Amino acid sequence: MGSLVLRDFEAGDADDLHAIVGDDRVTYWLSLESLSRDETQSLLDGILERQPDTPRSEFYLAITESASPEVIIGFVRLGLMGVKAADLGYVLRPEWQGRGIARAAVSRTIDFGLGDLGLHRITANIGPMNTSSMRLVESLGFQREGTIRDHVHTNGAWRDSVSFSLLEGEWSLASD
Ligand SMILES: CC(C)(COP(=O)(O)OP(=O)(O)OC[C@H]1O[C@@H](n2cnc3c(N)ncnc32)[C@H](O)[C@@H]1OP(=O)(O)O)[C@@H](O)C(=O)NCCC(=O)NCCS
Repeated sequence: MGSLVLRDFEAGDADDLHAIVGDDRVTYWLSLESLSRDETQSLLDGILERQPDTPRSEFYLAITESASPEVIIGFVRLGLMGVKAADLGYVLRPEWQGRGIARAAVSRTIDFGLGDLGLHRITANIGPMNTSSMRLVESLGFQREGTIRDHVHTNGAWRDSVSFSLLEGEWSLASD
């Protein structure tokens, strides 16, 4: 595996983003239905529109590999909220799963959030059946907090989320 690069989305990324958020194998696990190409363009437009916000409201970052930087293989998102807190999301294209790439990208994102941004708390809300996602955050030291009942409406039904959090002090920055 080449080294990972996390970068801001750019105007030309709509097709690659659509390859992710238009794929039922991915969106089945998210709180959204698969998006059409037009809906993906609107999503990207919103991401680009929010990038200049000061302070920033979110970091929606494309994951690429240095060996083939033109291909977006997934994304991570830190949605900033409240005081020094953020909600974490992450997705990898199916072809790139099962290689530790998501864990490495999320680890880098936590370094960025708790380190560069000085956050106190990062949360992740995960569907109860999404074992690979729960395994990922637990392997990084997230604590299970409880169940948020009927948290999202997805795939035609209400779905609980299992809530996880990681606090500053529970994480060793890569630079430490
Ligand atoms: C959740 C998701 C990002 C996890 O991706 P992933 O590639 O399985 O996660 P990791 O990077 O932690 O990789 C772990 C797997 O890689 C394997 N692996 C291979 N080489 C590895 C390495 N060097 N280091 C770590 N794991 C490695 C592990 O054994 C593990 O395999 P397993 O799942 O068969 O046990 C992915 O399943 C996904 O995008 N799902 C759809 C969207 C989603 O659910 N997002 C989260 C919403 S809460």
